[in-house]
Amino acid sequence: MKIGIGADHNAIELKDELKKYVIDLGHEVIEYGEDSACTEIDYPGIAFKVAEAINSREVERGILVCGTGLGMAIAAGKVPRIRAVTCHDTYSAERAQKSNDAQIITLGSKIIGPELAKHVVKIYLESSFPGGNSARKVQQITDREKEYLENKLGL
Ligand code: RB5
Repeated sequence: MKIGIGADHNAIELKDELKKYVIDLGHEVIEYGEDSACTEIDYPGIAFKVAEAINSREVERGILVCGTGLGMAIAAGKVPRIRAVTCHDTYSAERAQKSNDAQIITLGSKIIGPELAKHVVKIYLESSFPGGNSARKVQQITDREKEYLENKLGL
């Protein structure tokens, strides 16, 4: 698969380790970063780039890392049609695909060590969405998002 990867300044080392690992697993990796060198990389911009790369089909899945994984998940999830979830354990990583069809997982370099992070990523990439009842529930989220975007829900 083609995998998009991105990090803020808190997770450069973890991102580099995961990038190498994902390539070793046989995937193609496209890295999304800042265009200019800067000491502090704001996580929203990186999250938007990876999320938009999924919508444009440049990549199939995304891995985003920051200090906690939380900001990346919140920001990526604001991009229409994107389901981004934070995973620090392998069960969540599997369910992220099997129940939620999440195109992106996020991890926090201050929460998880590199070896467990690699295992989480491996399980996520090996899992796939089975459809069925889960598809109905994911569709309910997509439908509600569409209603918000069309401003039918009066925000
Ligand atoms: C730093 O900006 C920190 O907030 C970030 O790495 C991440 O943990 C956000 O959720």
